[in-house]
Amino acid sequence: KPPQLVELNVNGHAHHIQVETDTPLLYVLRNDLELNGPKFGCGLGECGACTVLVDGVAARSCVLPVKGVVGHDIVTLEGLGTAAAPGPVQQAFIDKQAAQCGYCLNGMIMTIQALLNRNPNPTEQQIRQELKYNLCRCGTHVEIVDAALEAAK
Ligand code: FES
Repeated sequence: KPPQLVELNVNGHAHHIQVETDTPLLYVLRNDLELNGPKFGCGLGECGACTVLVDGVAARSCVLPVKGVVGHDIVTLEGLGTAAAPGPVQQAFIDKQAAQCGYCLNGMIMTIQALLNRNPNPTEQQIRQELKYNLCRCGTHVEIVDAALEAAK
């Protein structure tokens, strides 16, 4: 299919890009908009590294065609805060030193943000349930759950 001009609302800004609309959102975010918070892990919707928020809800951008998000509010890790001024969930992950290699952290943080959006006071069990399908190969799950609990305080 030929590329089309689409408007995407990302982190509060409208972006106009020429794209084949079956393209996964992840590719557009990283390659066209140079937002490298969302990571490419499996490309199959199974690891969670590419997670973004669509209208406040966690979505796996590697399996989400661009045409599915036109007109919706997309938020990436960059939309939660900056290195100089991290958002509350980002700050909690820093405080709890929840990163080892750090590759999964975008997905962990965005997934926790989505949970807090709909439930500001989750239990540890609810946090664990939410993170069940976000993979971390370093095994830093204890610190990640700690960080999520901290962010929920
Ligand atoms: Fe999207 Fe793994 S890269 S779920």
